[in-house]
Amino acid sequence: MALETHVSLESRHLLLGVTGSIAAYKAAELVRLLKKAGAEVQIIMTPDATRFITPLTLGTLSEREVLIDLFPENEPGSWTKHVHLGRWADLAIVAPATAQTLARLAHGFCDTMLSATLLSARCPVLLCPAMDHDMYHHPATQQNLEQLRRYGYEILPPEFGALASGLVGDGRLPDPERIVAHIAALLRRQASLTGKHVLVTAGPTREMIDPVRCLTNPATGTMGFALARAAARRGAQVTLISGPTWLPTPPGVTRIDVTSAQEMYEATLQHAPTADFIFMAAAVADYTPVETAPSKLKKTDDELVLRLRRTPDILAELGRRRRPDQVLVGFALETDNALANARNKLRHKNLDWIALNRLNEPGAGFGTGTNRLTLLHRSGHQEELPLLPKDEAAEVLLDRVLTRYADSNAEKAATQSV
Ligand SMILES: Cc1cc2nc3c(=O)[nH]c(=O)nc-3n(C[C@H](O)[C@H](O)[C@H](O)COP(=O)(O)O)c2cc1C
Repeated sequence: MALETHVSLESRHLLLGVTGSIAAYKAAELVRLLKKAGAEVQIIMTPDATRFITPLTLGTLSEREVLIDLFPENEPGSWTKHVHLGRWADLAIVAPATAQTLARLAHGFCDTMLSATLLSARCPVLLCPAMDHDMYHHPATQQNLEQLRRYGYEILPPEFGALASGLVGDGRLPDPERIVAHIAALLRRQASLTGKHVLVTAGPTREMIDPVRCLTNPATGTMGFALARAAARRGAQVTLISGPTWLPTPPGVTRIDVTSAQEMYEATLQHAPTADFIFMAAAVADYTPVETAPSKLKKTDDELVLRLRRTPDILAELGRRRRPDQVLVGFALETDNALANARNKLRHKNLDWIALNRLNEPGAGFGTGTNRLTLLHRSGHQEELPLLPKDEAAEVLLDRVLTRYADSNAEKAATQSV
C-alpha cells in the first residue's frame, strides 16, 4: 500500500516503543515514514529489542537518542524521564508489540523504561502486536489484549500472512505505511469531541420482585462502555449511567450506577440538559412489578401471578425534551421486522440516529465481544456495518455521528450567511 501523500503529522510528538520481535526491522521504515510526515519521534526500546535491531539504526533515523534503560548509568538525575515523556507525547505507539510486553502492560509491570513510561502516560497508546499465530491466539495473549482494550489502549490487530517461523497465519505486523495511516486517523479522531459533553447509558436494569429476585435481561454493558471509552479518548467529558455490570469504569469517564429503570430515567433526565450527544445503549426493562414484596416470597404449589406496569420511556422523554442542537442516538434490538420497527422508533421518539443490533446473527447482540450494527439516520440514510469488535463498532458509530453533525452545522452556517 502506498503512503497517502496527504498524511501530515507535522510537529506531532510521538513515542515509539520497539520490542523484541523479529518484526522489529520494520520499525526502521516506520520511523523514516513518521519523520517524513513531519513528526518528532522519541524511541524507547526494550533491552531485548536491541538483539533484533540496533539503537544506532533507530537513533540515526529518529535523530534522537534512543532510550533503553530504566536506570541509566550515566544519567543519575534522569529517573523521572519516563513520566515526562508520557506527558510530552501526543500518542505512544508500540510496534512491534511482543506477547511479553503485552503481558507486562496488561498487568501493570513497571520493569522496563517502555512499560514505566506507558504506565504513567496520559496520551493515547496504540499497540501493534506481532508474533507467531499460536502465540497470538493463546488465551493468555487474547485475555491480555482484552484487558488492554478495557484499559483504553488502541489495538491494531496483526495481519494474516507468512510468518518468520515459516508458518502461515495471524501475527504479521502490518506494513509501516498502514501503521502510519492508522496513526494519522487516530490523531485526527483524538480531539474530535473536545469541549463536548457525551451522555451514555449502558447495561441492563433490574426490577426487583422481592429482595432476592428480579426481572432483568442478558445485557452486559459492553457496547455502552465501549462508546463511553471511545468518546473519552476523543476528548469528551463523558457521563456513563450504568445498570448492574462487572465492567470496570473506562479511564476519564464519570460513572453513575443505577439499578432499576426508574433510577436510570431519573439519572438520565438529570444529566441530559447539558449533554451535546446522548447515546442510549442500555437495555432498559419495559415492565416492572406493580409491587416489590418486602420479604422473600415463599414458594407454594400454586401458580404465581406477577402484575407488571410500564416503566417510564426514557428515550421518548429525551426526544420530547431535547434541545435543537442536541444529538440523540438510540439503540434497538428487534427479533421481528427489525428494520421497520427500528425506523418507527427513530421517527416516533424524535431521534437523530438509531443503531439496530442484529440479535439473530452469530457474534452479534448480548454478551459477545462483537456486534453487527445497522445505522439508520432520520434523513433515511442507512448503513450496514460489518461484524466488528464492539470497540471498533463504537468508533465507527462516533465517526458517522460526528461527520453528519459537522455537515449539518456547515449547512446551517451556510443558510444563515445567505
Ligand atoms: C528469533 C526470535 C524471534 C522472536 N519473535 C517474537 C515475536 O515476533 N513476537 C513475540 O511476541 N516474541 C518474539 N520472540 C520472543 C521475545 O523476544 C521474548 O519474549 C522477549 O523476552 C520479549 O521481550 P520484550 O517484550 O521486553 O522485548 C522472539 C524470540 C526470538 C529468539
